[in-house]
Amino acid sequence: MKEQLELILKNGLAEIQAAVSRDELEKARVKYLGKKGELTLILRSMGGLSPEERPVAGQLANKVREELTNAIENAFSEIAAKANAEKIKAETIDVTLPGASVELGKKHPLSIVLDEIYDIFSSMGFSIVKGPEVELDYYNFEALNIPKNHPARDTQDTFYINDNILLRTQTSPVQVRTMEKQKPPIRIIAPGRVYRSDPVDATHSPVFHQIEGLVVDKGITMGDLKGTLEVFAKELYGNDTVVRFRPHHFPFTEPSAEMDVMCFKCQGKGCRLCKGEGWIEILGCGMVHPEVLRNCGIDPDVYSGFAFGVGLERIVMRRFNIDDMRLLFENDLRFLKQF
Ligand code: DAH
Repeated sequence: MKEQLELILKNGLAEIQAAVSRDELEKARVKYLGKKGELTLILRSMGGLSPEERPVAGQLANKVREELTNAIENAFSEIAAKANAEKIKAETIDVTLPGASVELGKKHPLSIVLDEIYDIFSSMGFSIVKGPEVELDYYNFEALNIPKNHPARDTQDTFYINDNILLRTQTSPVQVRTMEKQKPPIRIIAPGRVYRSDPVDATHSPVFHQIEGLVVDKGITMGDLKGTLEVFAKELYGNDTVVRFRPHHFPFTEPSAEMDVMCFKCQGKGCRLCKGEGWIEILGCGMVHPEVLRNCGIDPDVYSGFAFGVGLERIVMRRFNIDDMRLLFENDLRFLKQF
């Protein structure tokens, strides 16, 4: 029995030492110390020994069990320590490596100026509303006093989804949508994308942006229109900006006008920037046509209002001296990083 026990100890220690994983160690533990393990079987068979042999063999067996148990425990902690060391090594961060830089974007010039326009009008009590780009013919034309076959439609051809649905050619339909929902007093601006069947060149794009404005209340006059838009021009271009109103025609306003600013480059003398005019047109405006008010259920004998429409691209181009509208839509970072 002594030889048997010594053999178990020898083989057991060798196997424990050779084990490289928790699984292998566990197998060795079961093989020697488990319920049906080699050592356990021997301990069980000790009943057959003589009373003199029993304590000697018992002592030896206990010693073998202790040594194997210790060896297995140590091996388990060694394997755990090794795994931990490897994990830490794998997770090590090399702080000397260059970082992955995050490039911060910038506001697009259209957004820069649009945000300024928001500020100017919100300081005058206007709120910002939005309308759909896919619009009904009724809102884009009909309700704005532009019936089918009206010549004003010629300059505003667009993509028709069907006879009644189109890509809006102007932000003016938001006027109607607002007046249908909200009773006066109304003071809103409505920015957004508009579409026209225009070929692309330095000053035209089939997609561009407008900002619509609308004020309706009791006793609103042309004086309110002029005062508001003059403040707008001065806030946008500086306090010494000079504006003028020229009579014009829009089907949805009466009277209608266009507002020009005096060319800041030549002070009205005429130069390349203003194409010799001395003035630069920046928006269309007028007193809301009584028919449009009526279409929206507002009594023109009680209420009056003014409206205006600004082309955002044109203002941005003047503001930053950009001579080609296409630059605003090409998304070339070399261009956009300059603002
Ligand atoms: N919607 C007009 C256009 O696209 C611009 C405009 C002119 C809007 C006069 C208005 C306005 O609200 O009163 O040419």
